[in-house]
Amino acid sequence: MPDRKVGAALVVGGGIAGMQAALDLAESGIKVYLVDKSPVIGGAMAQLDKTFPTNDCAMCTLAPRMVDCGRHINIEKLTYSEVIGIQGTPGRFQAQIRKKARSIDPDKCTGCEECTQNCLVRYKVYPPAEVTEPELSPEDRLKVEDIINLHRGKEAPLIGVLQDINDEFRYLPAPILRYVSRDLNIPLAHILKVCTFYSLFSLKPRGKHLITVCQGTTCFVRGVERIMEELEKALGIKPGEVTEDGKFSLETVRCIGCCALAPCIRIDQDVHAKVRPARVRDVLTRY
Ligand code: FES
Repeated sequence: MPDRKVGAALVVGGGIAGMQAALDLAESGIKVYLVDKSPVIGGAMAQLDKTFPTNDCAMCTLAPRMVDCGRHINIEKLTYSEVIGIQGTPGRFQAQIRKKARSIDPDKCTGCEECTQNCLVRYKVYPPAEVTEPELSPEDRLKVEDIINLHRGKEAPLIGVLQDINDEFRYLPAPILRYVSRDLNIPLAHILKVCTFYSLFSLKPRGKHLITVCQGTTCFVRGVERIMEELEKALGIKPGEVTEDGKFSLETVRCIGCCALAPCIRIDQDVHAKVRPARVRDVLTRY
């Protein structure tokens, strides 16, 4: 019976819309083939920091759906694949899908990235560590060596090393990162990936006190913008800048984790809750 519909669906594109469509179909008992041409689902939204107009964290919207799609018994993900032809009629058709070679077994992949880190082809072209000796003053070298030795031999020393360097120098100077790359035999590109992922780290010098203004949804709704304006006026700088005397840096963050006390700002380790614009200058004088 050529017209009989079959209980399977094809969703092309594993972005936020594709994932939601796949989940809705799968929840209603339909087998779904979710095709995406990139190696992972997530689409362009994975590259966004926040979404308009609510200022919500894009990853917080995306991640639960990615996990659900990965786990749902009715969804078969066909990533790194493309639809190259469709035959039939709506409700009963056959799709021809080309899967690109991955050179790994996707059923066994846990996403640990070890294959990437040890890829012989890649590191033949890009050496794993800096070849030239980075220029460091003898004092800086001593400090960095001490920090590295403190973490050497630990299972994943990089984050600890970067944290200590960031605390010591108030940022991560480029020659020191090259030194770490060389010493720990970790590609500089990987180190930079880590440094730019965490807001804790900075590649530019920071002031003595770091002021972090929460830009999360709750703080935004409760008027954090006016607090930011007051800070900018009081300090004479914009977010991402340092005051002339090197005393304060002004930065933004998505959420400090005290949404019930919004609007919040953090200065170094102190969280200032329910801040009112008129109190901003008082808060600053404490530092
Ligand atoms: S949104 Fe500001 S602390 Fe959570």
